[in-house]
Amino acid sequence: MPNRSGFLISFEGGDGVGKTTQIQILTQRLNELGYKAQDYRELMSTELGREMRRLTGQTSGEPITPLAEAFLFQAGRAEAVNKIYRPALNNGQVVILDRYIDSSVAFQGFARGLGAALIEELNQISTAQLRPDLTICLTLDPAEAAARITKVRELDRFEAAGEQLQKSVQAGFDHIAKSEPQRFCLVDGRGTIEAVASRIEAIVLEKLNDNGQVNQPN
Ligand code: TYD
Repeated sequence: MPNRSGFLISFEGGDGVGKTTQIQILTQRLNELGYKAQDYRELMSTELGREMRRLTGQTSGEPITPLAEAFLFQAGRAEAVNKIYRPALNNGQVVILDRYIDSSVAFQGFARGLGAALIEELNQISTAQLRPDLTICLTLDPAEAAARITKVRELDRFEAAGEQLQKSVQAGFDHIAKSEPQRFCLVDGRGTIEAVASRIEAIVLEKLNDNGQVNQPN
């Protein structure tokens, strides 16, 4: 068993699959049930991370090489693991992350072509082996996902790179789902917000119940 009392859940998926909405719903629901749950957006929870996010999201200026991009994400992650995620887990919290190590495997390893093995190694170093207890990966057809995003805002650099990139990202997630089926759950992102939320809640509550380390609901 991991040497901590909390529980780490990460959310993954291509851009526009609805992760952020589902994370908000799950966090609220777990708190209602008496868990101490808190969500964090990977890269936005520390000052260094926000700076990394700005650099990696730029659509103008000189393009960043894939390896440099990979290190930028890992630097933001190392900072957040040490300052935020580990202390929260040690405090017994359910920590819910909007993207984590698997995004690096899918985006930098698969879509940018650096390979899964290299990225997995970098992930281990930046997180000092802090792995999620459960990962929810929402799946949606890339064209449908892109249509959802453009309804609400402009595209960032990864999103603007188009459907082909998002397909490689999905191939990355499929690869992880095959190699770690216990941890990494693919969840259908189609349907109403409520329908997807109840699919997610069922999986999460089952895993939390299986996990003796976690504070039980009041
Ligand atoms: P994020 O800030 O989580 O925004 P979104 O809500 O659009 O998912 O991620 C921004 C982009 O960065 C997104 O296209 C995924 C990409 N990304 C990587 O390429 N590697 C990583 O390790 C992470 C965390 C994100």
